[in-house]
Amino acid sequence: MIIWKIHKTDVTSSTNDDVKQAALEGMHEGFVVWSLKQSAGRGRHGRVWESPEGNLYCSVLLRPETALSNIGQYSFVAALALRDTVQTYLPTMNVTLKWPNDVLVNGKKISGILLESIEHGLIIGMGLNVAIEPTLSNYLATSLASNGAKDIELSAILDRLLIALDYWYNTLRNKGFMPIRLAWLECAATGPMTVRLPHATLQGTFKDLDINGNLCLHLADGTERAIASGDVFLPPKD
Ligand code: BTN
Repeated sequence: MIIWKIHKTDVTSSTNDDVKQAALEGMHEGFVVWSLKQSAGRGRHGRVWESPEGNLYCSVLLRPETALSNIGQYSFVAALALRDTVQTYLPTMNVTLKWPNDVLVNGKKISGILLESIEHGLIIGMGLNVAIEPTLSNYLATSLASNGAKDIELSAILDRLLIALDYWYNTLRNKGFMPIRLAWLECAATGPMTVRLPHATLQGTFKDLDINGNLCLHLADGTERAIASGDVFLPPKD
């Protein structure tokens, strides 16, 4: 079990940067920075993560004894923890996971994960839309509040998230990636999708999540492609 040590702040540039700094100074596993807002919140692929007051912004430090090549598995651990957290507050809603690590409510993005590794450490930054739906450039966004879960204490949400993160982290440590993969597949957003890669865009159908965490896409010409990094877009819901 991880002993979490939470450092709360009113504002910071990015909680990921704060945890990274602490990690480089020797901070132990379980250190968490939670900020009420961020002035320079960061998303995947160098994008901005809008961080007004009202949503949850936190980063945790883990020190897994695993090869750097397996680090990507932790983004699925975090996605499952966020999925559990969202489902706790929206028990009747359709919560799905979009590769690699977005949590969707009725097809709209409610959270984001930014994984960064350093020597002997891993920083998992998590943003969850609680009260406000930011205007994401790429995706439709949603929040807990707009789905009916209003006036929830951020500290209670963070506590729930850390319990779930502990659970899935221990599952990965003790049982390997297979149960993580199966749990992720159980609520994966599947079907037709567009995948934007740095130099190409692919249309295909979801086939699988392989044991390395790659997205396996079935292409129209009958071939299959394993994708390690990219942005997935689902067709709009009616
Ligand atoms: C994404 O692009 O989907 C990932 C967004 C990750 C945002 C979180 S908020 C807390 C932590 N601090 C950051 O600067 N980014 C992450």
